[in-house]
Amino acid sequence: MQNLLRKAPLTLVEKSRDTLTIDGLKCYYVNDYFGVRREIRAVDDISLTVRKNEIYGIAGESSSGKTSLIKTLAGAIRPPMRVVGGTVNFNFGGEPIDVYGEPQKMRAARWRHLSYIMQGSMNVLNPVRRVKHAFNDFAFRHMNLDPVAFRQRVEAHLARLHLDPRVLEAFPHQLSGGMRQRLTIALATVCEPEFIIADEPTTALDVIVQQDVLATIKDVQTRMHSSVIFVTHDMSVHAAITDRLAIMYAGRLAEEGLTQAIFDNPQHPYTAHLIGSLPRIGDTRTRRSLQGKPPALSDPPSGCRFHPRCPIAVDRCSKEVPVMQPSATGGRVACFRAGEYKIQ
Ligand SMILES: Nc1ncnc2c1ncn2[C@@H]1O[C@H](COP(=O)(O)OP(=O)(O)O)[C@@H](O)[C@H]1O
Ligand SMILES: [Mg+2]
Repeated sequence: MQNLLRKAPLTLVEKSRDTLTIDGLKCYYVNDYFGVRREIRAVDDISLTVRKNEIYGIAGESSSGKTSLIKTLAGAIRPPMRVVGGTVNFNFGGEPIDVYGEPQKMRAARWRHLSYIMQGSMNVLNPVRRVKHAFNDFAFRHMNLDPVAFRQRVEAHLARLHLDPRVLEAFPHQLSGGMRQRLTIALATVCEPEFIIADEPTTALDVIVQQDVLATIKDVQTRMHSSVIFVTHDMSVHAAITDRLAIMYAGRLAEEGLTQAIFDNPQHPYTAHLIGSLPRIGDTRTRRSLQGKPPALSDPPSGCRFHPRCPIAVDRCSKEVPVMQPSATGGRVACFRAGEYKIQ
């Protein structure tokens, strides 16, 4: 899978402008049980930027806060989720949009500039209605086309994604899982958005269909020069499709950098573990799994949240919070012993 899809040339990625800037973002689930307040700190002080024309990956174990982070970006916040700090700004070439300062501008930008393929999004297709209705409901009013031209545009877009136009007349249950997932991607991209957020779009699929879906997303991204945030816990998928990669652990960033650099030389012990646990052809050694479980985000460990599981933790790690700093490989890392842990 590693070499299946070509990556955008580095220079191109480096020169392009920032389309998303997140600064000090904090997003908690706040519950009140009979006057006792309980907070789950799912996103706890995250800063990052995503550039035009790049695929930015977000990795990390289940429950590390990936879905919470991208819901916050898309302005898809519902109680008990609350943004308690920080800013999110999009720049689609015109005026920048402050997601939480200007919710009405953000609503206008959804679909036209930004599309969000949610985790488990095959469910956006209503089981009792033909597929074409989903396109009419979601995309028609954003495209300023008459119905005939709209239908032509949709059919041309489906053809690019290797989908027969007859799928429009089908009911979702008549299609395979891979076709349904490609349809949700078609639905999310028919308006040619500048920014695509995809949350675990390939997780429920078998490997062959997975490759098909990855190629589809890459194809759309290359043609439109869009920015993509691609979320998955599967590191081999990140290796295949992302240009840059952020590793999340317990609601925080552990490391960020060019995907290639991260795979070649991970700086954070957690990243090294994620990469070291990937199977490799010809390697018969037993893989050692990480001890322990990710922490409860209602009561995270002091200092570095990874310290109770870290193989090289020292005293300082339980006392001080490491902040993201420039790493030796040109990215950023939050670790007092960055680069010291090597994959066995
Ligand atoms: N609606 C919710 N109410 C309370 N806690 C939630 C809710 N949704 C998610 N969480 C918690 O937030 C944390 C991060 O979850 P999530 O963002 O879904 O992680 P990931 O996508 O990395 O698996 C988890 O501890 C999860 O239990
Ligand atoms: Mg998730």
